[in-house]
Amino acid sequence: MRDEAAPIVILTGAGISRESGLHTFRDPDGIWAKYDISEVATPEAFENNPALVHSFYNDRRKILHDPAVIPNAAHHALADLEQNWPGDVLLVTQNIDDLHGRAGSQNLIHMHGELFKVQCLHCNAISPWQDDLGSEDKCAQCGHKGSLRPHIVWFGEMPLEMERIYRALEKCGLFISIGTSGNVYPAAGFVEFAHHQAEAETIEINLEPSDGASLFDNGIYGPATQTVPAFVDQLLGRDENK
Ligand code: APR
Repeated sequence: MRDEAAPIVILTGAGISRESGLHTFRDPDGIWAKYDISEVATPEAFENNPALVHSFYNDRRKILHDPAVIPNAAHHALADLEQNWPGDVLLVTQNIDDLHGRAGSQNLIHMHGELFKVQCLHCNAISPWQDDLGSEDKCAQCGHKGSLRPHIVWFGEMPLEMERIYRALEKCGLFISIGTSGNVYPAAGFVEFAHHQAEAETIEINLEPSDGASLFDNGIYGPATQTVPAFVDQLLGRDENK
């Protein structure tokens, strides 16, 4: 029996933004089918060819400015859950887009960074950034030129706010994973941590069973814009026939 006010931790991945028009990484039409991770998403790649890395992230930032790319029903449903669930809801996303924030989620951690932020390698400041980034740009905080990198956690780097995430996982009653293939650690290990450390109920919501599907107590499969709002309505005890 589920505790009606149990703390909830939700992990999202690229699948939740697919129906907003953003590509996932590992599906056949995904980003890693077109690009080599080692050429665009590692600290070494940025050292060897900063122009290529900048252009990869500039393209992705540009897509987010497309007026057609907006939060979908699944993003909105998670903001709705945060507002209306009587217990804590922490949303941890692996996504670097801003769609959860635009949908209204507030207790939100971008564990892999954010496309709309940059980090200065000179003074370490993190600043907002809307448009193209290049090797000639200056840090808004210290004025240093040529030291800005996208505020993205690359392969081989430590994801952000891990302590806060594990603290929430330790006391959650329900862990929900949405739209992620479960290939990238540490996020892929959250389900086992929630299960063993918190004895939490664990649910996967995805287009199809992921590689780690057997680690979850339950799975709900289908497009996120349908499955997530329906699941949130059920959690909030709303009558489906209203
Ligand atoms: N609704 C729900 N799930 C979907 C949908 C949809 N409409 N479309 C695709 N999916 C599912 C796919 O079946 C797949 O299991 O979303 C998942 C996306 O998996 P990945 O492409 O691997 O994306 P993600 O898990 O977020 O990747 C993790 O890898 O490259 C890194 O840093 C990058 O944060 C990213 C991390």
